[in-house]
Amino acid sequence: MDLQLSGRVAVVTGASKGIGLAVTRTLLAEGSRVLAASRKSTPELDALSGTGLLHVAADLMDPEAPGQIVARAVEEFGGLDILVNNAGGPPPGVALPRFSFLAPTDDDWRAMFEFNLFSVVRAVRAAIPPMLQRGGGAIVNVSSGSARLPAAMNVDYNAAKAGLNNLTKALSEEFAPQGIRVNTVSPGPVRTAWWTEEGGAADILAAQVGTDRDSVMDRVAPEMMKLSTGRLAEPQEVADVIALLASPRSASTTGADFAVDSGFLKEI
Ligand SMILES: NC(=O)c1ccc[n+]([C@@H]2O[C@H](COP(=O)([O-])OP(=O)(O)OC[C@H]3O[C@@H](n4cnc5c(N)ncnc54)[C@H](OP(=O)(O)O)[C@@H]3O)[C@@H](O)[C@H]2O)c1
Repeated sequence: MDLQLSGRVAVVTGASKGIGLAVTRTLLAEGSRVLAASRKSTPELDALSGTGLLHVAADLMDPEAPGQIVARAVEEFGGLDILVNNAGGPPPGVALPRFSFLAPTDDDWRAMFEFNLFSVVRAVRAAIPPMLQRGGGAIVNVSSGSARLPAAMNVDYNAAKAGLNNLTKALSEEFAPQGIRVNTVSPGPVRTAWWTEEGGAADILAAQVGTDRDSVMDRVAPEMMKLSTGRLAEPQEVADVIALLASPRSASTTGADFAVDSGFLKEI
């Protein structure tokens, strides 16, 4: 299927690793030009460099950063068609999971909302005018299955992502008549640095249940999260759905939430 993404201009946040890196690789392979934002680049992102890729170092905890990266994409590539708000998860300096509502402080809550919700608000605010100038566009917000599953674990993260789902639906209502589609993709657990890095989620859970990182990734997490497929998703499996939603082939899909969650959510 031709996704008709050739020549389109995209901004992808959190593009240096994990899901964002897979999205960037996929959009470039489809012929899009991509402004890839993260605080630092990685060898994997550098390996994609060519005429279609521009990495911009940006810290999304800075309220000015989302507007600056959108403006840079317009300046460099002449417009904007696609915004993938992928950066999110534990804010800088935070390790998840946390196990109780009593764990996060006010500052923790603020940082969580700053990273997972307010940075998206600011990016969308900056992206809509150039998209309207092109006659439309596609915004994909990377949420989480946890947005729809209130739980003691990561309560601040879940609430921020629930806000993101609500925002997405509201934006889709307001801007569909002007040609801008807005959807969420909601992963379950995905095999990324968030889980696998030193001190990441797998190490925290391993310490909690008295096992090692590999056992958590291969057995403990899939069992604990009741994953129907029995395994965590791969970043590319999330990126493929994001690319489809970014594509004009999804012209009638807006305000939708797509689970790529290994069967994590059980409700219909
Ligand atoms: N992995 C999962 O299990 C999972 C599950 C559900 C939902 N999600 C969602 O999927 C999205 C991507 O997660 P992931 O697991 O792929 O992440 P990841 O592998 O940990 O990568 C995070 C990306 O965000 C960038 N980043 C981190 N802090 C940043 C900041 N302050 N400013 C700008 N960029 C920043 C990182 O680069 P720098 O560090 O260089 O800035 C990196 O490119 C998130 O929204 C997350 O909530 C993930």
